[in-house]
Parts: sequence; structure tokens; C-alpha cells
Amino acid sequence: MLNFLLFLYIFEICQCLQRPIVIAHRGTAYLPELTLASQSMAHAYGADIIEIDVCLSRDNQLIVIHDIYLDGVTNVSGIFPNRNRSDVLNYVIDFDLYELLRFYLSTLNETIELLFGLNRATGRQRQLLIEI
Ligand SMILES: *[C@@H]1O[C@H](CO)[C@@H](O)[C@H](O)[C@H]1NC(C)=O
Ligand SMILES: *[C@@H]1O[C@H](CO)[C@@H](O)[C@H](O)[C@H]1NC(C)=O
Ligand SMILES: *[C@@H]1O[C@H](CO)[C@@H](O)[C@H](O)[C@H]1NC(C)=O
Repeated sequence: MLNFLLFLYIFEICQCLQRPIVIAHRGTAYLPELTLASQSMAHAYGADIIEIDVCLSRDNQLIVIHDIYLDGVTNVSGIFPNRNRSDVLNYVIDFDLYELLRFYLSTLNETIELLFGLNRATGRQRQLLIEI
């Protein structure tokens, strides 16, 4: 159902644009994925939509990260030893926002503010595709 709605939505945009739409997957490939820098670059490069993923922190904040664990994009085990679960991974849900901000992660709020700011500054209306 969700995929179908997404399809309809994208189809609508395509009808309007008369060209393929460009979705920046996690930002651009030229900078670390999902960082604010990467999303800014995708905006500047002309993506119509910027795709991001969000994950909940222990204190119920929405963090922009693809995996539900931190090990893929941070050196979490070096900074927070002994916070891993039995599978040795460090899960986002086991950390509070103030701890997560030690890494180059952003919150959904910051990402939305960035996009609104860039849209306003450039006059180009980009959208966010938020994967939960
Ligand atoms: C973790 O990464 C940061 C940024 O790259 C670096 O400054 C820091 O020294 C690293 N810490 C550990 C414990 O590896
Ligand atoms: C964390 O990982 C280590 C192995 O690196 C393991 O010995 C330990 O039991 C793990 N912690 C938990 C809570 O399972
Ligand atoms: C994000 O915004 C919501 C609504 O204003 C607020 O409740 C929440 O605390 C904010 N989170 C962060 C991390 O700024």
C-alpha cells in the first residue's frame, strides 16, 4: 500500500515535470551518506527529492541514519565501549540524542530546517522522502 501511494505520488510529480525525477539516495555519493553536507550537495546538484532514513533514539528523537545500529558509519565502539548488545552491534535505540551528536549524525529536525532554508535561499523547491 505504501509503495503504491509512493508510486502515485511520484507519478503525479512526473506528470507535472514532463521529465524523469531525480531522487538523491542518502544525499550524494561524493560525501559521507546522510550528513547535512551530503544533502546540501544533492540540493545544489538539482535533485528533485532527497531520500533519508530515520531511526529513533533512546530519548525518542528522530535521528537520520540508514541502519538501526551505529557501527557502519561511526567509531562508536571506540568512544562508547561496552554499550553493544550480544551480537556486538551498538543500536541507535540504546543511545540518547546528546550521545549521538558526538558523531556526524543529524536529527530529522535539522534536516527539515536545512531543506526549508535551502529551498528559501535558492527558490528551488526540493522535497524530502523520509524512510522510517
Ligand atoms: C572517532 O572518530 C573521530 C572522528 O573521526 C576521531 O576524532 C576520534 O579520535 C575517534 N575516536 C576513537 C576512540 O577512535
Ligand atoms: C559486547 O561485545 C563483546 C565482544 O566484543 C562481548 O564480549 C559482550 O558480551 C557484548 N556485550 C553484551 C552486553 O552482550
Ligand atoms: C524536534 O522538533 C519537535 C517538535 O518541535 C520537538 O518536540 C523535538 O524535541 C525536536 N527534537 C530535536 C532533536 O530538536
